[in-house]
Amino acid sequence: ARSNTAAKAAGKLYFGSATDNPFLDEDATYKAILSDNTLFGQLSPENAMKWDATEPEQGVFTFTNGDVIVALAQANGQIMRGHNTVWGSQLPSWVSDSGFDNATLISVMQNHVSTVIGHYKGQIWDVVNEPFNDDGTLASNVFFETIGPTYIDLALQAARAADPDAKLYINDFNIEGEGVKATAMANLVSDLKSRGIPIDGIGLESHFILGEIPTTLQAQMEAFTALGVEVAVTELDIRMTLPETDALLAQQQTDFQNVVSACTAVADCVGVTVWEYTDKYSWVPSTFAGQGDADPWDENFEMKPAYDGIIAGFSS
Ligand code: G3I
Repeated sequence: ARSNTAAKAAGKLYFGSATDNPFLDEDATYKAILSDNTLFGQLSPENAMKWDATEPEQGVFTFTNGDVIVALAQANGQIMRGHNTVWGSQLPSWVSDSGFDNATLISVMQNHVSTVIGHYKGQIWDVVNEPFNDDGTLASNVFFETIGPTYIDLALQAARAADPDAKLYINDFNIEGEGVKATAMANLVSDLKSRGIPIDGIGLESHFILGEIPTTLQAQMEAFTALGVEVAVTELDIRMTLPETDALLAQQQTDFQNVVSACTAVADCVGVTVWEYTDKYSWVPSTFAGQGDADPWDENFEMKPAYDGIIAGFSS
């Protein structure tokens, strides 16, 4: 069975993967598998559409890398999730260290959002990325510190104005199970909706640790969709402490199945994206020493037991 075909049979829009330009440029096998739309119906740019990539100098926009990924998706008939316009990380220093006053930073942010989303029309967008701390307070970044919490309203409004057809998401991690951070996200979205600020979806990143999938994942998805938004699993991977063993791979299969079956069970969970499909290009080992093998294909592009878990999850 094929993962995107299985997702569609389950009533989902896609099963997808993150991707990045260096891998596409250098690795034909990687690109060929990614281009198979029976496996992947959606692409997310791992870095190419972030602020440091798209507006490295004020008012100078570079869409080259992002355009390569969009062209690939179009050639393959794949949906794009844009990632992301407003985030405290991967900002060029002209934004993060600028000392812009409130009015100037608002206009800088609005110009960035409207130019990037205006360029990449018709996508699903992570407009605001990772706005929360784990305790549910809003994270300190240049936008929050300068503009205050209304930076979120202004970013979403600029996105809607730039492309009325784009699906607008707020995306975060550690909101996949019940807890203070998930509650803070629900409260934010409910407040946005009550004030007429455009918001269409909540992205659950889902960077999980093996054996630690939240048991309340489906319940939390339902709590979010009850607010009148869709949800998506946007950055799924499930890392293990190396070395890999058959027992760990079996646990990983169960874990992938449980995540995907939660999305399958929730009508307004629109799809599942893995944050790279192959262990060869995962962000995990460089961030968590001694951990890895978090993806459903191994470094030699062989499908792992986790892949069977994905298929089973869409069939549940
Ligand atoms: O582009 C430079 C290159 O010029 C330089 O030589 C090289 C040296 O280290 O660094 C390159 O930049 C790296 C960039 O990826 C592009 O490869 C950065 O160091 C590296 O930190 C960056 O990592 C990305 C990370 O976000 C940074 O925030 C990962 O690829 C990407 O997978 C990861 O994705 C995030 C999501 O956006 C948000 N959610 C969490 C997720 C995982 O951290």
